[in-house]
Formats: sequence, structure tokens, C-alpha cells
Amino acid sequence: MGIVLRDGKIVTDTVCYQADIRIQGEIIAAVGSQVAQAGDTVLSAEGCYIFPGGIDAHTHFDLPVGAMSTADDFASGTKAAILGGTTTIIDYATQFKGETLKQGLENWHQRAGGKCYADYGFHMAITDWNDNVSREIPWLSREAGVSSVKLYMAYKNVMQVDDSALFQVLERSRECSILTCVHCENGDIVDNLIRKFRQQGKTTPAYHPLSRPPRVEQEAVNRLMVLSETADAPVLVVHLSCREALETVAKAKDRGVQVFAETCPQYLVLDDSMYQDTSFSCAKYVISPPLRGKENQEYLWNGLKAGILDTVATDHCSFNFHGQKEVGRGDFSKIPNGAPGVEHRLGLLYTYGVKAGKISLTQFVDKVATQPAKLFGIFPKKGTIAPGSDADLVIWDEQRQSTIGAATHAHKVDYSPYEGMKQQGQAIHVFLRGQHVVKNGKVCTDNPKGQYLFRKPFQNPKEKTK
Ligand code: URP
Ligand code: ZN
Ligand code: ZN
Ligand code: ZN
Repeated sequence: MGIVLRDGKIVTDTVCYQADIRIQGEIIAAVGSQVAQAGDTVLSAEGCYIFPGGIDAHTHFDLPVGAMSTADDFASGTKAAILGGTTTIIDYATQFKGETLKQGLENWHQRAGGKCYADYGFHMAITDWNDNVSREIPWLSREAGVSSVKLYMAYKNVMQVDDSALFQVLERSRECSILTCVHCENGDIVDNLIRKFRQQGKTTPAYHPLSRPPRVEQEAVNRLMVLSETADAPVLVVHLSCREALETVAKAKDRGVQVFAETCPQYLVLDDSMYQDTSFSCAKYVISPPLRGKENQEYLWNGLKAGILDTVATDHCSFNFHGQKEVGRGDFSKIPNGAPGVEHRLGLLYTYGVKAGKISLTQFVDKVATQPAKLFGIFPKKGTIAPGSDADLVIWDEQRQSTIGAATHAHKVDYSPYEGMKQQGQAIHVFLRGQHVVKNGKVCTDNPKGQYLFRKPFQNPKEKTK
């Protein structure tokens, strides 16, 4: 016996058409008309869109930062994810100083195992590069199912790696079909600007964006392009935030550099006017890169449309304002960086992208599901609606309206950066591998059935399968 979703408007990265979907077990068994069989349960999706389950390829759940940990762990984070139509997350497992990659990854399996309401995979963030770690790289993709690593060009003395490490990781990753994701900000300049502001007594959170101006991001992106070109290795610029960085990526793509880029809802719908508040409350927006001038948003939307930006992920990294962000009262550089968002990625992109005419419905699906699935080695299991794919499906009622706020969101954090913003459309039903996990807009399971995703080696989506 199966489940039939009847009369929905199915949207993939290329087409939108009306059809029925038959789910059998965990898989999409058929898409078309008259697919129902005797004994099937039928759910009407009339008037609604059906999207492939969203894939948020950039989260930080249960991340230790200094003496604290992010407010959301894998349980609350993935619950919020499914509520918003995201059925897969890829979190940044982190190798801290002195650890092997194996230890770092094992720690993340322990944090996530048995707690996830969405399927999950890991990238491996490398913060301590050495010969032993280099020898672990083949193991990562072949035996651990991790086909992407992350390096930070910022966060000096904590996560930042130098160009030598970057270059070596790129060479090693190319050999092992791994995609290198990079946080692009020149951490040395940022470090100097922070020290200068501190010496001048400029310690409020309003100085956070001034310590990380767009050219600091642009310089790092440009350097990464040169490193990628020289090593002939694919790279993905994470959380790209500004025009300068976008144009640098566009030029590199033009000359054949294997570069992919991700942006985030916060850079598309919020801007640096949030830092005008001279009180400490703008600590809520202390994220890196920081929010940019509003004029950048048009460039980012156009970049999505033109395919310069390949994916939209949230960089969900939540800290409570009270008790966590507050440790940076008196010194903005001590405010833990990051903000929540995993629940609202589809809603924000649909409302301010699709409904506002900035991107099409098929582009929307491409950025939130199909491209991340392809780049991170889980396509066509995830990221599309086709027979044989996992039945990760979102029934999207475009008539529903809601207002985002901390009082109602599922994130386990005491504020929302999107407080008061309207959303058009809502995930009213969500299926994860055929299990009905969100019913009438509410999570309907207490059983975290998310599975670990052993991802395939990186394959450039623009090249034909060899
Ligand atoms: O401010 C941010 N983005 N915090 C999360 C860690 C990172 O840089 O991705
Ligand atoms: Zn980052
Ligand atoms: Zn991040
Ligand atoms: Zn407080």
C-alpha cells in the first residue's frame, strides 16, 4: 500500500506540471496520472505546489564556540528544518586543533546520531592541517561518506588556515574528488581592524561590520580563485554576501575556474541598516560576513538568476541574545558569530524571490534542492521528484501567510533576525523518505528518523557523467 499525492503542481529544477505522485515505502514509485493502486491512501494536493524536500547544505548545530554551544542542537535544528520544508541538512563537522579528522567526525556523529528529524550529512571543517591529516583525506570520501571539506580564511588563531594549507588541501581534495568549501574573508585584515577599533574604545556591535568590509571578502575570494586555478581544484565560496565578491566569482567562472557559490537568505533580505541601532541589540546581527548595504541585494538576486550563485543555504548558527550574544557587551569581537534561519529558507526565498519576480519557481527549486544535491553527491536520491528518488516531498500551500517571530518559531533561540517579516506560502505537508513528518503545518512525529547520508564523491554538475 502506498500514498498518493493527488493533483499537485509538481516543480523540479526544469519544469512545473500537474500530476499525481505515488509513494511506496521510502521511494517515489510513480509520477503521472492514474498512479493510484487499490488500498493506497490519497492526499489531495490540489492548488498546491509540490517541491522536492529542501536541502540546507550549511548548518552549524550543536557547535561548541569557546565555552558555549549553539542554541540549537540537532534535534531542535532539524525539527525546525522539516517544518520549513527542508528534509536534508549538511552540517559542518569540525576538526578542532590537535584532533584527527576521524575524531572530529566521530564527535559529530555522536552529536547528531538518533536526534535528527531530517536526513543529514557532514562536511569536514579542517582547522589543523598537517601531514597526518593529509593522509586521512582519502578515507574521508571513500569510507566516511564525506565528499566536501571546509576551510576558513578568517577567525585568526581559531579556525583560520594559511594559503599554504589551503593550497595543499585543494591539491589533496582534487585527487580524492572532494569539493573544498571556503569561508572567504581576509582574517588578518579583520584581526587588525578589530584591534584598532578596540584601542580606540569602539567596542559596540556596530563596529562588527566595519571590521569586515566587502573588500575583505573580495580579496579572499580573489585569492581563492587563484589558488583553485593553480591547483586545478573545485571550490565553493560559502555565504557570499556582496557585489564585489559576486563579480570576482563571475569573472573566475568566465575564465573556467571550477568555482561554485552559495548565498544565504540573510544577505538577500536583510541589510546593514540593522547595525544603525547604537544599542547592544544589533548583536543579534553579528554574523560573518556581516549584513551589507541594501544595494547589494539586487546583485545577489541577479546572481542567482544568472547562475553565478549556485545554491542558497542558511548558515544557521544560533546563539541566544540573552546569556550568549551578551558575553560581547563591552567588546563586539567577543560576540559569538551567527544567527538562526534553517526554518525560514524556503519561505523567505519563495516570498522575496519567487513572489517578488526575482527568480522563477524552477530556479527556486534548483537553488534550495537540486543544485545542493548535485554538488554534494546526493543526487538523484535527493533534490528531485522522479521515480526511484527518495520520497522527500513538500506540499506547499501558496495561499498561507505567516509572520516570522521568536514567539512562534521552532528554533530554540530567543530571537529571530527576521522578526515581523511576512511570509507567503507554507509547507503544509512534508514527507521524509515517505514518512509524513509535517501534517497541516505541524511536526507530527516525536521520532527522529533522520538517517546519515553517505555522500558520493564530488562530480562537477556541469560535466557529463564519465
Ligand atoms: O557568523 C557566522 N557565519 N557564523 C557561523 C560560522 C561561519 O562562519 O560559517
Ligand atoms: Zn563561514
Ligand atoms: Zn557557517
Ligand atoms: Zn540578558
